[in-house]
Amino acid sequence: MQGPRDWDATTYDRVADPMTRWGSAVLDRLPLGGDETVLDAGCGTGRVTEQLAARLPDGRVIALDASPSMVAEAERRLARFGDRVAYLVADLGRPFSLPGDRPADAILSTATFHWVPDHDALFRNLAAVVQPGGRLVAQCGGFGNIATIQAVLATIGDGWLGDVHFETPEATVERLATAGFVDIETWLQPEPTTFEPGEPFADYLRTVVLGSHLARLPADEHDAFVQAVVTGIGKPVIDYVRLNIVARRG
Ligand SMILES: C[S@@+](CC[C@H](N)C(=O)[O-])C[C@H]1O[C@@H](n2cnc3c(N)ncnc32)[C@H](O)[C@@H]1O
Repeated sequence: MQGPRDWDATTYDRVADPMTRWGSAVLDRLPLGGDETVLDAGCGTGRVTEQLAARLPDGRVIALDASPSMVAEAERRLARFGDRVAYLVADLGRPFSLPGDRPADAILSTATFHWVPDHDALFRNLAAVVQPGGRLVAQCGGFGNIATIQAVLATIGDGWLGDVHFETPEATVERLATAGFVDIETWLQPEPTTFEPGEPFADYLRTVVLGSHLARLPADEHDAFVQAVVTGIGKPVIDYVRLNIVARRG
């Protein structure tokens, strides 16, 4: 099976305002004393990681992502934090270890879990790298996310809906409990988001939502594919639905 793809980190960094806004609210749910070590699981270009690092003046952040380009961009953004931030290119779907083999005190993750195909493996792998009692505070695409776009995608080309999956709160509670988490809360949050029409919207779709679709197509078919999706959606609005997760390692 193919592993996670590399992302266009430069464009992602420019267009990631919605994820950064949601990520700030998710971070607010993570109580911190300021001296913890926190794993950011799927750090992207580090726009949320940077807010996390600012809350840990005596602590550390481990910025993990499967995309080498994302991690390289995060390193540039977070350089001012020096050795308070460690970087790790790793696939959350496979077992991994943290620097020094020391477990984290907590895990933050934003806009990432829906890209990891096997959530049983994901939560098992996260449980293995956090201290007993440590918190997992996360948000990802949830059940019903981008349903309008998926309906359009089903009508284009071979109808492939992408390598994402959007889980329910109920199934997620079960999986987290099986992986050893307790005090679990999960809930859906609709976040319909309006974009600037034209090239900004197309750019956003190309980089964030349709990246995996375009990776399967020859470059000279990319623009037509993106345009077909833009036309199919109609208004420059994405019907985002986020799945929130708060839990503790038992
Ligand atoms: C939409 S970005 C979110 C980045 C950042 N957390 C934010 O909120 O802006 C999704 C990130 O998940 C990463 N990702 C996807 N699959 C992954 C996997 N299996 N393991 C680790 N990271 C993964 C991608 O490389 C990408 O950086």
